[in-house]
Amino acid sequence: MFQRKLSNGFKRFDAYAKPLDDFKVKTFAGGAVTIISSIIIIFLFISEFLDYRKVHTEPILTVDKSRKERMSIFMNITFPHMPCYLLSVDVMDVSGEQQNDIEHDVYKTRLDPNGNVIESEASFVGESEIEGDQDAELPPNYCGSCYGARRGCCNTCDEVKEAYAAKGWSFNNPGKVEQCVREGYGDKVEEQKNEGCNVHGFVKVNKVAGNFHFAPGKSFQQNGMHVHDLQQFYKSTDFDFSHIIHSISFGKPQERIFNPLDDTQKETSISRYQFQYFLKIVSTNTVYLDGTEEPSNQYSVTEHDQDFSIGSGVYGLPGVFFNYEISPMLVTYTETRKSFTSFLTGVCAIVGGVFTVAGIIDSFIYTAEKKLKKKIELGKAS
Ligand SMILES: *[C@@H]1O[C@H](CO)[C@@H](O)[C@H](O)[C@H]1NC(C)=O
Repeated sequence: MFQRKLSNGFKRFDAYAKPLDDFKVKTFAGGAVTIISSIIIIFLFISEFLDYRKVHTEPILTVDKSRKERMSIFMNITFPHMPCYLLSVDVMDVSGEQQNDIEHDVYKTRLDPNGNVIESEASFVGESEIEGDQDAELPPNYCGSCYGARRGCCNTCDEVKEAYAAKGWSFNNPGKVEQCVREGYGDKVEEQKNEGCNVHGFVKVNKVAGNFHFAPGKSFQQNGMHVHDLQQFYKSTDFDFSHIIHSISFGKPQERIFNPLDDTQKETSISRYQFQYFLKIVSTNTVYLDGTEEPSNQYSVTEHDQDFSIGSGVYGLPGVFFNYEISPMLVTYTETRKSFTSFLTGVCAIVGGVFTVAGIIDSFIYTAEKKLKKKIELGKAS
C-alpha cells in the first residue's frame, strides 16, 4: 500500500512523460536516422575517450626565480684531425671562475685516422695523453732539471711541460729536454700525428654566462690573460678543427628537449680556423602527471666561423668555442589530463546532442514524407 503511494508520488516528478505505444509509428527513415546517429555517437565517444586518455602538455613562461647555482654541460664531440695530446678543453665564466684544462668528468679517447677507437681505456682530460716510459731506469736520488722554469725537480716530461706552462713559457723544443727524450716524447707525438680525438663527459659550471672551448696546446695564465701554447699546433698543417657534435646538452638529455646541435658536423681543411657557437640557454622544467619535476635546459644557437690563416689579416685562437648566455625566462611544461567528470560531461553532451539533432531530422523527414504522400494522392484524384 505504502509502496504504491510512494511510486505514485514519484510519478509526479517524471519529466519524461511517455506517449502511449499505440500512437507510435516506426518508419524506414526513422530507422536509418537511428543507425546513422548511433554510428556517430560511437565515433564521437571513441574520440572523446582517446582525448580523455591523452596527456597534454602546456608550456608556461615565467621569470626564473629559482637559484640554481650549478649547471651540467654534457658533451660528446669528435675531432677527426686533432690528436688528443694537443687538444685542451677549458671552461670559463663571467664570475671569473676558470677551469683550465679541466680535470672533471671529461674523457678523451684516441681515434685512428678512420675514426676507430684506439685505446679501450679513455683518459681523463688533464691526464698525460703521452704515456711516458715510466719503467725507464732512473738513478737513485734523481732530480731532473726544470730548465729554469721552476725550482725543485722535474722528473718527467710532463712535469717539465707543466712547469713551463705555469711560467708562461712555450714548450717548443722537446728534443732538448732530457726527460722527454728519455720517454720518447717525440716518437709518441709522431705516432699520434694522424690521429683524431673524441671528447665526452660532463662539466659542472656556474649558471652564469661563460664559454667553453676546445683549442690546441696547453693553456695557462699569463699576465691575467688566458693563453694557449700553440707552437706544436703550428708545426704541422695536418691539424684542423673539423668536428662532429654527437651531442651537447645543458642538463641531462631529455626526450622532450630537442638540442639543435646534436649530430651536426663542420668541415674545414684550414688549420688556423675558428668555429664559434653562440648559445642562449633557457631553463626548462617538466612537471609530470605524477607531480615529479625534471629541471633541464633548452638552447638556441647561432654560428660564426673565421679564417685566421696567415695572410688573412686577422689573428685569433683557432679552435671550437661555445659561448653561452643564460636567459632569465623559465619554461615550465606541465603534463595534464582531462578529469573523469569532464569526460562524463562530454559523453552526455555527445549522446544527448546527437539524439536531439537526430530527432529533429527524423521529424522533418517524417512531415515532409507525409506532405509528399498527400500531394501525390491529391494529384491522382484530380
Ligand atoms: C658519442 O657519440 C658516438 C656517436 O653517436 C657514440 O658512438 C659514442 O658511444 C658516444 N660516446 C659516449 C660516451 O656516449
